[in-house]
Amino acid sequence: MIHPEPAAPWALAFVNAIPHGVVVGVHLPAGPDPVEEAVLTRLVPAERDAAVALRGFRQVQFVGGRLAVAAAFAELGTRRMAVLADEHGTPLFPEGLVGSISHKQDLAVALLARGSVAVGVDLEDTDRPRPGVPERVLTPRELEAVRALPESRQWVDTVVRFSVKESIYKAIHPTLRRYVGFGEVEVWPGTDGWDRVDPVTPELTTFQFEARHCWIGMRVLTTVRAEAR
Ligand SMILES: CC(C)(COP(=O)(O)OP(=O)(O)OC[C@H]1O[C@@H](n2cnc3c(N)ncnc32)[C@H](O)[C@@H]1OP(=O)(O)O)[C@@H](O)C(=O)NCCC(=O)NCCS
Repeated sequence: MIHPEPAAPWALAFVNAIPHGVVVGVHLPAGPDPVEEAVLTRLVPAERDAAVALRGFRQVQFVGGRLAVAAAFAELGTRRMAVLADEHGTPLFPEGLVGSISHKQDLAVALLARGSVAVGVDLEDTDRPRPGVPERVLTPRELEAVRALPESRQWVDTVVRFSVKESIYKAIHPTLRRYVGFGEVEVWPGTDGWDRVDPVTPELTTFQFEARHCWIGMRVLTTVRAEAR
């Protein structure tokens, strides 16, 4: 269920229970000004220390993501613990929990679930088609399928596929620990919100993927669960 709130900076935008976990959105302030101490103190100390080392929008996004994580911990009824990053930027969740983070300039989202099966979340705008992106992020088969759609649907379909691939990356990079190219999986968006994922490279067939997309206004939110076989 979505609970809209006023778009005050740092306020909850939504808390939503979805098949891959709890997803929380937090509104971000409009500018890159340093985050006020009153907001930083809402983080656990180790996260606050990480945040003060950051500058500009990077600091704003980091803090927003961790506040979204905090609200997701509360929603699951779990004791809040620090979620720091490894050397690749992967957020490290405590034993027994998995999660992922994404942000846009005005919104940070976090996905949190119980268990040990990796998850990924990604948020993308769909309003402005960007030339060259389909050719960069889609395989020839995907491109052919997209180009067969009515022109008005082509960009949105591309963004859903792109976003699922970003969610996949976040879910599997911590295991593979290598760059995963956009041509290594194919994504087939479903009209019911469930998206089929076909691995292309043999290494990716070692995962069983479950992918979903949903809409937050003009934005698409994708979540992926990637279970190592
Ligand atoms: C890492 C990447 C997925 C981040 O996506 P993005 O759209 O740039 O940024 P988002 O705001 O959605 O996500 C940022 C969050 O991703 C998470 N993240 C960063 N690197 C990560 C990694 N290696 N593994 C998992 N999560 C990661 C972090 O939580 C980060 O937020 P934080 O630093 O505040 O904690 C993207 O930049 C990238 O490098 N993609 C590689 C190519 C790819 O996606 N291939 C698809 C293969 S199927």
